[in-house]
Amino acid sequence: MSDRTSRQQPSDLDAFWLKEAERLDWMTKPSKAGNWSWAEDDLRIAWFEDGVLNASVQCLDRHVAAHPDRTAIIWEGDSPDVSERITYREAFEEVCRMANVLKARGVRKGDRVILYMPMVPEAAYAMLACARIGAVHSVVFGGFSPEALASRIEDCGATAIITADGGRRGGKTIPLKANVDKALEKASGIRLVLMVQVTDEKVAFEDGRDLWWHEARDDVTPDCPPEPMKAEDPLFILYTSGSTGKPKGVVHTTGGYMTYAAYTHEKVFRVEPEREVYWCTADVGWITGHSYIVYGPLANGCTTLMFEGVPSYPDAGRMWAVVEKHEVAVLYTAPTAVRALMRESDELVTKHDRSSLRLLGSVGEPINPEAWRWYHEVPGEGRCDIVDTWWQTETGGIMITPLPGDPMDKPAAATKPLPGIVPAILDADGKPIEGPGEGGLVITQSWPGQARTVWGDHERFVQTYFSTYKGAYFTGDGARRDEDGDYWITGRLDDVLNVSGHRMGTAEIESALITHKAAAEAAVVGYPHDVKGQGVHCYVILKEGYEPSDELALELKKTVREEIGPVATPDRVQLAPGLPKTRSGKIMRRILRKIAEGHPDQLGDTSTLAEPEIVDKLIEGAKGFK
Ligand code: WTA
Repeated sequence: MSDRTSRQQPSDLDAFWLKEAERLDWMTKPSKAGNWSWAEDDLRIAWFEDGVLNASVQCLDRHVAAHPDRTAIIWEGDSPDVSERITYREAFEEVCRMANVLKARGVRKGDRVILYMPMVPEAAYAMLACARIGAVHSVVFGGFSPEALASRIEDCGATAIITADGGRRGGKTIPLKANVDKALEKASGIRLVLMVQVTDEKVAFEDGRDLWWHEARDDVTPDCPPEPMKAEDPLFILYTSGSTGKPKGVVHTTGGYMTYAAYTHEKVFRVEPEREVYWCTADVGWITGHSYIVYGPLANGCTTLMFEGVPSYPDAGRMWAVVEKHEVAVLYTAPTAVRALMRESDELVTKHDRSSLRLLGSVGEPINPEAWRWYHEVPGEGRCDIVDTWWQTETGGIMITPLPGDPMDKPAAATKPLPGIVPAILDADGKPIEGPGEGGLVITQSWPGQARTVWGDHERFVQTYFSTYKGAYFTGDGARRDEDGDYWITGRLDDVLNVSGHRMGTAEIESALITHKAAAEAAVVGYPHDVKGQGVHCYVILKEGYEPSDELALELKKTVREEIGPVATPDRVQLAPGLPKTRSGKIMRRILRKIAEGHPDQLGDTSTLAEPEIVDKLIEGAKGFK
């Protein structure tokens, strides 16, 4: 029997998790594990409730005590000539200083602090400084627009922002502070903007509100006592897209999240902290950056690499140059990067020494078998195992994944759940499918890393995750189980897109489109894209008096960039004469999807449409797209 099929599930989940919680340094040890109910009218999730701890202590203090001079963070700049090594002691002192600056400016336990940061060590310090004083951080990805930033500031009622003058990416500068200033024309409540100097960008400075980090840090001491936090006190809010409405603020709490981040990071990557360098290429603006650049690896005392730039700069060999330069042992990246790199010459990979590599990881979106094989054979020389890790913002950490040492005979299969995780596949009636079969992927037992609620809207949390199937957490993904009991993720079952590993709601893009004065109605669907995984195809109906033109299509793309950010820029805007609707007015997305996918022959039954003739016009209009 292989390792994979013999992966053991604990018989007593509570005892198992209570034992796992011992990984952490608690101020008061918890006496019990889970206390949860997934009943729709009484939905509550709590773990290690009577425990008291501080997340920054897990990541810093205990390592400063044991190995102060070990490198905590290797920072690799956008420019290949710039890098820095920061020890646990240095990281500890910077975090304490930043915590003291926040405190001195009135930030208190429970206050919300927005982080809008480039990939510099100060981003990690800022997260940990908030954790140290019990403030709740909410990192907003630096690629989001001022509009998107403003709505997040308002939604969580933040009182402070930590940002930088600008961010560097691929030789370009992103005007972060200018974006903050724009956002603050719309959003109120911010009393402090703490700004890290990263570029030479000229920025506006508002006295009384704005503060330079390099000036403030000299006025405070490098020591700040950690705030004792209850296990269920929130650690952070992270906004993520769903199938309807605005992005929701997913809430993670302290004890359960930290236990799960540390547990999964160790279990899946098996880093040897005193020896190996670990590199996750995500941005701290996403959950992967939270759990697997900052909290997981630092809780485990590892050396975590933070990369400021992009894999294509100065050339497509950058990732392997970084692996060689810092002797990276574990590389954790997204399929979109793998697909982009495999189109280039293999020589860009092979000319770099990769003998330090031991394990390769994949996250964020389905990896196609072709990309998996290239990743395994070319960068991994056929000797590095691949862990294709399935999980979500809401799960806090990795859930279903192969483990190092498993047979690598099923490219792109998620294979088996980690010990402690109990998934099931349900049919359309909500009945569990035993044995081989395909359906909706749910988790049937709570786990410590599970999100607790949606900030300010618990009802939305209940509706989104617990109303599709009674008594189970619905992931929004579909899955298939094969004869060996291995799981294969088949993709989202809802209107959530995954573009280059970035999660986006079609509804969000539609709302952005109709802010344009010429747009009457919009419908957005995904279609398969060679590099991005999914591309964004927008059907837009113009208002009376507007004529379709290429300029208008471009303007609509620009509107989405401005409303959401460059990550959401549509690949295609089709100015359409109408949308396929049923007689009751419901848009038939299935038809729009098939047209965008280039399968107009698979539309199925269109007889229930109010205006069936619209379909031919849409097919005709889509022909111009590649
Ligand atoms: C998708 C990212 C296939 C999935 C950690 C999920 C994946 C969504 C994989 C969550 C994978 C993530 N294989 N699909 N290995 N990993 N997904 O919240 O659809 O940004 O629901 O979390 O990404 O995206 P999120």
